[in-house]
Amino acid sequence: MAPHPAPATGDTSPIFNTFARKPLRFERGEGSRLFTEDGETYLDFAGGIAVMALGHSHPVLVETIKNQAEKLWHVSNLYDIPGQTELGNKLVENTFADKVFFTNSGTEALELAFKTARRLHYANGNPERIDILTFDGAFHGRSLAAIAATGNEKYLEGFGPKVEGFIQLPFGDHEALKEAAARETTAAILIEPVQGEGGIRPVPHQCLRGLRQLCDQHGILLIYDEVQCGVGRTGKFFAHEWASNDAGSAEPDIMAVAKGIGGGFPLGACLATAAAAEGMTPGSHGTTYGGNPLAMAVGNAVIDLVLEEGFLEDVQDKAIWLRQRLAELVDSHSDLLDEVRGEGLLQGLKCKASNLDVVAAFQSEHLLSVPAGDNVVRLLPPLNVELDVLADAVNRMDAALTAMGKA
Ligand SMILES: Cc1ncc(COP(=O)(O)O)c(C=O)c1O
Repeated sequence: MAPHPAPATGDTSPIFNTFARKPLRFERGEGSRLFTEDGETYLDFAGGIAVMALGHSHPVLVETIKNQAEKLWHVSNLYDIPGQTELGNKLVENTFADKVFFTNSGTEALELAFKTARRLHYANGNPERIDILTFDGAFHGRSLAAIAATGNEKYLEGFGPKVEGFIQLPFGDHEALKEAAARETTAAILIEPVQGEGGIRPVPHQCLRGLRQLCDQHGILLIYDEVQCGVGRTGKFFAHEWASNDAGSAEPDIMAVAKGIGGGFPLGACLATAAAAEGMTPGSHGTTYGGNPLAMAVGNAVIDLVLEEGFLEDVQDKAIWLRQRLAELVDSHSDLLDEVRGEGLLQGLKCKASNLDVVAAFQSEHLLSVPAGDNVVRLLPPLNVELDVLADAVNRMDAALTAMGKA
């Protein structure tokens, strides 16, 4: 083969140049801590971007994966996979859903959510109903349909025509939403109950109930993207549960889940009511890897731990404690921080200084966090984080912000 020409950029890495990676190399993780090749220790409040729900190397998950690895990894969906039924039943018993399809990622779970919504209208004789309404600041993944749903020009640029049937609305513009929901081409509304990448922006609970009503009124479907905010992250099994009360239901028809459900193993799921899933007949969708025995073993173990008695209450207690400490930090560093926002252990610091500088300052104190939109720093500790680790992290943030203030 002819020698490869030297790239004009001088980039000699074999890896696509799509990520601006930090020069940090981790070789081991344990609970909330990550250890570098050079023997340095970091507190991990990035959690692989809200993935490590139970921290690194959780002994039950390690044992589970070892045991399953010795038995069976993959057979394909040509055969019955008991772990799917087991995990499916757990999800059905503990959510609004009647049906589950397992995927490998959040994007794939959303792709199926879009297909499920469109296909139901098609099966009901309304094939013109293809439009999915989404909101500014949303993030739904990086496939062609997902970037159309996300609607951010930055992700769409250069990839050809935007996939048809995704309409972005301003976050919080009720009139625009009512008008769009009433159109005869509308199939569904898609929303993250707490926007993650968009800057940890929780949707007010009455708005989620309002969306449910609006969807019922117009015969359209409500889809939640709980890829980042689900699986205990907010202190409920799923974030939208906070919004359902005597004033009304906020339950969706379809929901995309990923990240935390695999505790670090690639796993996602699309959940739906039986009525919403009715159009998805044999052959209408598929996956090679989705729901394989290895993924199912891990998913079952994660869900058992998250649904253990007292686990979610513990997340809520720790979240209240963290929230108070973060509010104090905002007060004492009001030159650099604007406000704290979020739900549960999905917390964001809206910055006055550059959020990238704050993330870098935290990193210099060996605390990992993640930037988000709207100049926010995301804090995503494991759900089973110990209180003294939270206290340690707050001290590191305080030290980092103090140093920034002096610089
Ligand atoms: C809310 C939300 N939806 C979808 C996705 C895409 O998930 P994945 O990267 O697993 O495809 C993400 C990923 O960050 C997300 O935060």
